[in-house]
Amino acid sequence: MTVKAGVVGIGKALPNRRVTNQDLVKNGVDTSDEWIRARTGIEARYFTDADTATSDLAIQAGQQALKQSGVSANVIDFVICATSTPDYPLFPSVSCLVQEALGIPSTSGAMDISAACSGFNYALTTAFQYVENRQAKNILVIASDVLSKFINWQDRSSCILFGDGAGAAVISEVDPLLGHENAFLFSNGSYADILMVPDGGARCPLTEESFVDQKHCIFMNGRSVFKVAVNTVVPAVEECLQKIGIGTNEIDLYVFHQANLRILESAREKLEVAEEKMMVTVHKYGNTSASSIPIALADAVDEGRLKRGDRVLLVGFGAGFTWGVNSLKWCF
Ligand code: ACO
Repeated sequence: MTVKAGVVGIGKALPNRRVTNQDLVKNGVDTSDEWIRARTGIEARYFTDADTATSDLAIQAGQQALKQSGVSANVIDFVICATSTPDYPLFPSVSCLVQEALGIPSTSGAMDISAACSGFNYALTTAFQYVENRQAKNILVIASDVLSKFINWQDRSSCILFGDGAGAAVISEVDPLLGHENAFLFSNGSYADILMVPDGGARCPLTEESFVDQKHCIFMNGRSVFKVAVNTVVPAVEECLQKIGIGTNEIDLYVFHQANLRILESAREKLEVAEEKMMVTVHKYGNTSASSIPIALADAVDEGRLKRGDRVLLVGFGAGFTWGVNSLKWCF
């Protein structure tokens, strides 16, 4: 008999420190609230303090998702964490830190996935495969990023975009009429250099000079990212819906990666999606990288915008370039 996997609980965690656009101006960024709102739709974001790292937010979000699902930590048999900002540059993985902190048994596997802002789509797709192939019963999927620690404050076009956060989902076997329907993952490494952290890895280890030049921070060609995002994601959604055999209006809620309101609006208009079917959280949290989709899902549940049986489309895109589309029927 086929097994169907689905999301049975969701959670989110945001740091305590809310930073408005005006706060950025006060802290010396050469920008304005009007410019940031007009170009990005962002009003505020949350930043961690110096002592808080990716795993701290991941653990909080994971605890919430476990609580909502009613699945106990001791029956989780796999932890998958999507992140581009692990606590430690090489190892141990964030997922191992989560496994220990949440009391998940050591019989569980733990691995990190690196797919930048599409990380949740990649992690979720992996989790669905494990459950549906009976390799695992209950999986904790977490997306957590603290991009604030890698912002180049000299670059006003990128420093205004990002925020920190984590989102988590518990994946288990569900009613065969609900849960995971389709997953499509994509990549195109020819766009590697339009959004990257140039130094600090094996290709260009960090030096005093590269540190001074902020090459351990995010470099982004904003205009190219904007174009690539819109030009790849919209056709991908159209292709996926065609493969599934449904029209854009048969989706109850679209949850895109929250990079920029203009990207969301452009995609919404091209796909002819009604405004109320598009989840928007970027104004509240900025771009929180891999965690933006599960955070938006958690808000959709809290706001009563998702109910059992609704069909939701998750659309991620990010550095690499990577992108992915997941369609699922909501389970609770
Ligand atoms: N405040 C005021 N002025 C600014 C700022 C700022 N924060 N940033 C740039 N400007 C100025 C520039 O100096 C330039 O001035 P000039 O015309 O006098 O030279 C002008 O605004 C236009 O600069 P551009 O960089 O061309 O601005 P653009 O309209 O492209 O907007 C932005 C920049 C918002 C980054 C846009 O390119 C964008 O949204 N790109 C998408 C990037 C994105 O979403 N990345 C998220 C990470 S990727 C991901 O999640 C997939």
